[in-house]
Amino acid sequence: MDRIVIFDTTLRDGEQSPGATLNAAGKIEIARQLVRLGVDVIEAGFPAASPGDLKAVRRISREVEGPVICALARCERADIDKAWEAVRDAGKARIHIFIATSDIHMQHKLRMSREAVLKRTREMVSYARSLCEDVEFSPEDASRSEVEFLYQVLEVALAAGATTLNIPDTVGYATPGEFGALIQGIRQNVSGIDDAILSVHCHDDLGLATANSLAGVLAGARQVECTVNGLGERAGNAALEEIVMALYTRPQYFNLTSGIVTTEIYPTSRMVANYTGLAVQANKAIIGANAFAHEAGIHQDGILKNRLTYEIMDASVIGLAQSRLVLGKHSGRHALANKLEELGYHLDTEDLNKLFKRFKELADKKKEVADADLEVIVSDEIFQPEVVYAVDQIQVFCGNGSIPTATVRLRGPDGVYVVDSNHGTGPVDAMYEAINRIVGIPNDLVEFSINAVTEGIDAVGEVTIRIQEKLDNGGSPVNPQTGRKRRIFSGHGADTDIIVASAKAYVSALNKLIGSRNGDY
Ligand code: KIV
Ligand code: ZN
Repeated sequence: MDRIVIFDTTLRDGEQSPGATLNAAGKIEIARQLVRLGVDVIEAGFPAASPGDLKAVRRISREVEGPVICALARCERADIDKAWEAVRDAGKARIHIFIATSDIHMQHKLRMSREAVLKRTREMVSYARSLCEDVEFSPEDASRSEVEFLYQVLEVALAAGATTLNIPDTVGYATPGEFGALIQGIRQNVSGIDDAILSVHCHDDLGLATANSLAGVLAGARQVECTVNGLGERAGNAALEEIVMALYTRPQYFNLTSGIVTTEIYPTSRMVANYTGLAVQANKAIIGANAFAHEAGIHQDGILKNRLTYEIMDASVIGLAQSRLVLGKHSGRHALANKLEELGYHLDTEDLNKLFKRFKELADKKKEVADADLEVIVSDEIFQPEVVYAVDQIQVFCGNGSIPTATVRLRGPDGVYVVDSNHGTGPVDAMYEAINRIVGIPNDLVEFSINAVTEGIDAVGEVTIRIQEKLDNGGSPVNPQTGRKRRIFSGHGADTDIIVASAKAYVSALNKLIGSRNGDY
């Protein structure tokens, strides 16, 4: 079987998902988990995008061993210099450069002629090659590029020293038949193509990213670019777990393999959801909460008689623990540690102690603590941004015929406690208004969702929110300090009291927003 190179771009294209902001510490932890998962290449960031990105890629290059560490750059000397500065210390380094090749991008975005794009490609690929032996080239918007011109650009990139040629369906426009034919056409018409690895990079705007990537692979591509949970620009990128499990589940059809340790898929998915604050939809293939759940009576009956009637994969293959061990208030630290390991969380003593305290508090309120409860308290305790403000006490007054009012006490910078009150349209609004009076950072709440983690009246409530920074800049969508668009930050919080969970989620998002102003994100 041929082996497919798994190129993970969760930390670059994935981090471009609105709200999926990660700080350097979160990126390092995810990169370490990607090593356990067995990816071949980690695209760690786009160093020219911000000094924070450059720093994070450099730390990953220095601290994470195993996979190739790659940095993205436009076809510009300054970008390439920054990418090289960021990855040069990696055990295996790669520079990935791109330039758009579709008429619409060249005319309206780059304002460059075809000749100029060819010249720039030649010069910048050879410049990148003069720095690094491993250079990947991407003709952005390849699937909408005039195909003869695309062949020409690829030949130029190859002759200038590119070692991987990546074909992006940047706007998720292609269909599987077309995309497979594009890859086949490139293999047949680009001279010297066998000297490079051919790669695919598909976006999911029409829900076809995985299908297109697999069509590319069937047509001869040997690297797939993908992200954990399918994160990425707009509708996202091809999901790593879908690509890998398609190859794993249908070996006779694909006759291809990957180096992925499939039992790390679920823990990686949880970790990425926790750090980015972007929850996985319940019906998401492979890793969604319902992916292995059977509701219909006929299906349940079939499963009981023979699992293969309705299940094409075994949940344990992706690392979904199926132990019957249920924790309760008599469970000790050792049982908790075992359970967390089983769920894929490898925690140090300090984190385990924090979690044990939270677990005991919860076990006092709930008879049985389910795996799902543990997952949310792990996110609530461990996967949080640097704490600037922390929720200390909340008190709300609300109900029919009253003015919802909240009093909040937060622990702020230097450990100073601050109390304030406000009213609002409901208890959550009143509490957020009180927090706003303390923190004083204008923002718009763009999403608020609340979810009961398990069934029953004693269930833990998990709140996920997204806030967008609000700037005092005459309504311009761009932040003059950073030159970037108004950014979105997610936050999550969990508690058996949903008002407390809502407060924690809001404060966690505010901590990220504050961190972004200090260059952490
Ligand atoms: O989607 C895209 O075209 C990209 C390139 C930078 C590879 O992400
Ligand atoms: Zn992309």
